[in-house]
Amino acid sequence: MKSLPYKDILHTKQFARADLEMIFETARDMEKIISWESPGKLLDGKIMASLFYEPSTRTRLSFESAMKRLGGEVITVSDGEMSSLSKWESLEDNAIINAMYSDILVMRHPESGSVEQTAGVVKTPVINAGDGANQHPTQALLDVYTILKERKTLDHLHIAIVWDLKYGRTTHSLVFLMWLFEWVSFSFISPEELKMPQKVIDFVEEKKIPHLETADYSEGIKQADVLYVTRMQRERFTDMSEYDRLKDDYILNLSILEWAEKSNITIMHPLPRVNEVAKEVDALPNAAFFRQAENGVPIRMALLYLLLHENR
Ligand code: CP
Repeated sequence: MKSLPYKDILHTKQFARADLEMIFETARDMEKIISWESPGKLLDGKIMASLFYEPSTRTRLSFESAMKRLGGEVITVSDGEMSSLSKWESLEDNAIINAMYSDILVMRHPESGSVEQTAGVVKTPVINAGDGANQHPTQALLDVYTILKERKTLDHLHIAIVWDLKYGRTTHSLVFLMWLFEWVSFSFISPEELKMPQKVIDFVEEKKIPHLETADYSEGIKQADVLYVTRMQRERFTDMSEYDRLKDDYILNLSILEWAEKSNITIMHPLPRVNEVAKEVDALPNAAFFRQAENGVPIRMALLYLLLHENR
């Protein structure tokens, strides 16, 4: 029986290529279960605690949908103010209690490292659903699964990532995952203020991955097979005048796409979007962002199944 060689999913550096192949193969099986009229029974009797101390639509609801499609149950904190963390309970105590009531914890929290801290004090599996500006590993898994479905390969791809690379945790997780594939290269397109963090640049340099850092959309998009657009993470800015100054600078529209040499460039976005992709882009056959969000359910079903079925 297939299983992952670790208890938790905390960051994308933990994955080997073989893990991804197993997760994607399982996700394809899960797509069949989604098409059934009645839910599957693979996680019958299991309980997932869905702990969201920051807002979410896609991650929380797709995890909850995934658990229910496998026959499991869900308990939820969807508003951090309603948790005893807001009464200054420590993360550790809160984690111990949550783990008593469930078989797996799925957690989003505004502080980098908080989910890893939680995983360190419980035997229950813990999945990072986004920790501050650090990582969002399950988003990166569904992003890579989407790239595979859209491009039919994960090798020999040039990926352009644009806009808020400083706070956009999904972009960090994506880079740490895509390096597993052959001849991958990147363009990092952003204003100076929102450049990719040094830890990501150090990583691509250490792995000798070709990459370009530029503020020029036309230069960064030129060779790209995939364009990954991110939202400016308004909630993480300490200086709102900086946000206001930059918030209209990198809007993707049909004119910008003319700079791409590959007319079938795959356009992705983890969503939610504010203004960064003009609505006129939505109708393009290569605009993949809604299919990308849909892929969240089979990927998260695969993760829940692979982490939980051995404990049955
Ligand atoms: N992509 C993503 O994480 O979306 P949510 O914030 O809605 O979960």
